[in-house]
Amino acid sequence: MLVNPLRRLIEPPERLLGPFVRPGMTVVEPGCGMGYFSLPLARMVGAEGKVICVDLQEKMIAGLRRRAKRAGLADRIVARVSSETDLGLNGFAGSADLAIALYVVHEVPDQRRFLEQLHEVLRPGGLLLVVEPRGHVPPADFDQTLATARAAGFEQTGEAPRARGLSAVFRKPGA
Ligand SMILES: C[S@@+](CC[C@H](N)C(=O)[O-])C[C@H]1O[C@@H](n2cnc3c(N)ncnc32)[C@H](O)[C@@H]1O
Repeated sequence: MLVNPLRRLIEPPERLLGPFVRPGMTVVEPGCGMGYFSLPLARMVGAEGKVICVDLQEKMIAGLRRRAKRAGLADRIVARVSSETDLGLNGFAGSADLAIALYVVHEVPDQRRFLEQLHEVLRPGGLLLVVEPRGHVPPADFDQTLATARAAGFEQTGEAPRARGLSAVFRKPGA
């Protein structure tokens, strides 16, 4: 279902990501799955850009690599298996313009640590987009995630993305 073509009809990646992505950007995507968002993202950042994708499931990363190769986008996508608590992004600290956490945060056991790692990988002024499944995640839990993101060092921008789920945009201060 996560990469089902029908999903494009109800949740086109370009509609959600378009306002945030520019050619040449470096974008980090934890919990990328098989790349429903990663492949369109790789097209949007262009040949000069990069998409750094991590997922704790090896089969998701294998599927993403296969799909990226078939689409001719493999050279723009770094795909790595992460652990439940370590996204493995140390080598990229301060380099990302944008991080997108789409339908993943509710699955993470230590949200504070997860969000702190995204804070670390972003450059000052970089943005974090969070979307969580409406209905599946109670609003009170989402509010708790927003508070955790602020505690991890982010400031909320007040932007309202064109998302199907519960959503928020954060900025890493300091630009
Ligand atoms: C519901 S899927 C969403 C996939 C993709 N973002 C999408 O919307 O199509 C959640 C993904 O997050 C991954 N995941 C869950 N916890 C994670 C963690 N702590 N670190 C990295 N990936 C995680 C899962 O393996 C799964 O592929």
